[in-house]
Amino acid sequence: MAPVKKRYKVLVLFGSAGTPPANQDFSKELKTEDFAAEANVIEALKELGHEVRTLGIWDEASLIVDEIKANPPDVVFNLTEHFNEISAYDRNVAGLLEMMAVPYTGSSPTGLTLCKNKGMAKELLAYHKIRVPNFAIYSPGAAIKRPSRLKFPLFIKPAEEEASYGISLDSFVEDDASFEERIRFIHERMNQPALAEEYIEGREIYVSLLGNDRLRVFPFREVIFNAMPEGQPKFSTFKSKWDDAYRKRRGIENVFAEPFPNGTDQRIAKICKAVYRALRIRGYGRIDLRVTPADEIVVLEANPNPNLDRADEFAQSAMKAGLSFPRLVQRILTLALESAR
Ligand SMILES: Nc1ncnc2c1ncn2[C@@H]1O[C@H](COP(=O)(O)OP(=O)(O)O)[C@@H](O)[C@H]1O
Ligand SMILES: [Mg+2]
Repeated sequence: MAPVKKRYKVLVLFGSAGTPPANQDFSKELKTEDFAAEANVIEALKELGHEVRTLGIWDEASLIVDEIKANPPDVVFNLTEHFNEISAYDRNVAGLLEMMAVPYTGSSPTGLTLCKNKGMAKELLAYHKIRVPNFAIYSPGAAIKRPSRLKFPLFIKPAEEEASYGISLDSFVEDDASFEERIRFIHERMNQPALAEEYIEGREIYVSLLGNDRLRVFPFREVIFNAMPEGQPKFSTFKSKWDDAYRKRRGIENVFAEPFPNGTDQRIAKICKAVYRALRIRGYGRIDLRVTPADEIVVLEANPNPNLDRADEFAQSAMKAGLSFPRLVQRILTLALESAR
């Protein structure tokens, strides 16, 4: 691809797995699967002709301050997903960039906060009359009692996680004993509130969107479960997302969604734009939802700054719409500069 006319100084900021080496040499890590998104973005930025510096962070915010002072970037490509192992702290990384008045890609602390807190997100969506599963939140230490309005089967997940951490076949519960047990598990093992939701049966759809004010909706992706044992509910778990051998055994595949009948595709696009706006997502985002057998659209969660690995849903959807990966990276960069103005 031809380099862009305007070359920027871009700082690619990402999370390192543990204290980063003082010389910030990640050449070995960047060749591994765990750093695919980082490697793909860095490669695209270089291909576009930008001047790229990289910074890995773990638990030291001062590294960000020092780097930006020493080498002021035009824009930060923010790929951090947690800080000191805390997923919700990605909002503080964005907050630091905001305080330093440097443009950065993706969502602001507001969008990151609203989406990462799945309970708060659902309260907000309900205000906008967007359908979400009925739910209750259980903080560690509080009594675990199921309100009668919450009907089995229920689905229990950590309230502030992503990438399906804490989601397994045991997340699906059909009686009070397993309900309590799973909530305790989230409290004890994951140290955060648990979210209990009505289980929504239906096709699982991922919708990728790009933009700040005007939004572009990319072709939908769908997870299909070809070989789940008879009668077993079909939903994504940590294993079904990341364990290739398990995916093969269970016939789990991510594909482009076959179109829905009766204008449902248009309704999905409209709802996803409304979710994106309600939850203050900026730049790029992905909405996870289910479409029930009665064609109801139920939003499960919104993901600001979704993974940009070329092989992951967001890039796949964008490329299907004819946006090459470097073009996509350039668009995300431009959106960051636009929202900083
Ligand atoms: N209320 C629900 N009903 C049915 N399936 C659900 C529900 N909530 C979550 N799931 C299943 O669990 C997966 C992960 O949940 P999600 O809320 O998207 O969290 P994550 O941030 O881990 O992706 C979903 O992709 C879906 O398959
Ligand atoms: Mg999800």
